Amino acid sequence: MMRKTTTATAFAALFTLGAAGLTALAQPQSAPQSGVVFRNTVTGESLDVSQGKEGGRDTPAVKKFLETGENLYIDDKSCLRNGESLFATSCSGCHGHLAEGKLGPGLNDNYWTYPSNTTDVGLFATIFGGANGMMGPHNENLTPDEMLQTIAWIRHLYTGPKQDALWLNDQQKANYTPYKQGEVIPKDAKGQCKPLEE
Ligand code: HEC
Repeated sequence: MMRKTTTATAFAALFTLGAAGLTALAQPQSAPQSGVVFRNTVTGESLDVSQGKEGGRDTPAVKKFLETGENLYIDDKSCLRNGESLFATSCSGCHGHLAEGKLGPGLNDNYWTYPSNTTDVGLFATIFGGANGMMGPHNENLTPDEMLQTIAWIRHLYTGPKQDALWLNDQQKANYTPYKQGEVIPKDAKGQCKPLEE
């Protein structure tokens, strides 16, 4: 009698354990896919966005971007102010002061060697992982947060037709005016981005 109970209990325990083990195994596969997958612009290999310059990963904008692909810094003057400076330091030497093109192609028109750059996820992947030749990866010199600021500035420099600005949502399209040279963004512009450290 005693033995039977023990066996039954042991069997029940084993069964429970087994079921729990199965559930644990099944979880990663059955969980809904969440977050954006970034791929190298040229090779298509997936990019590990945890690699590179430290910091700039826990801001609300980066979290939102990694989850949805939406760049909250677009049209935010405080981020444009920073993006202008980051672009001047890291990109303009090759792409031109106004992103009009120099050694590297223009980034302010509606022609893209890689059409993936018409989305902010694609543009982020190009900055993070590079493309061909002189276009090296920039993940060691810009944090993801700084990349989002740089992207906001590149989008701001756009002078092409509005209907080709696939990165703008309907409301942003309605407010779109092509970039005009000479605009000055006040240093104390308020918004989501704190002034860069000097
Ligand atoms: C040392 C020069 C150099 C620097 C610095 C540089 N680039 Fe480039 N970039 C290039 C070249 C050359 C290409 C063309 C590569 C190709 O076609 O694969 C390119 C291509 C690109 C493209 C693809 C454009 C298209 O038409 O699809 C993007 C986007 C881009 N660069 C953004 C940037 C950004 C943003 C920065 C700064 C963070 C930057 N680059 C810094 C040289 C540079």
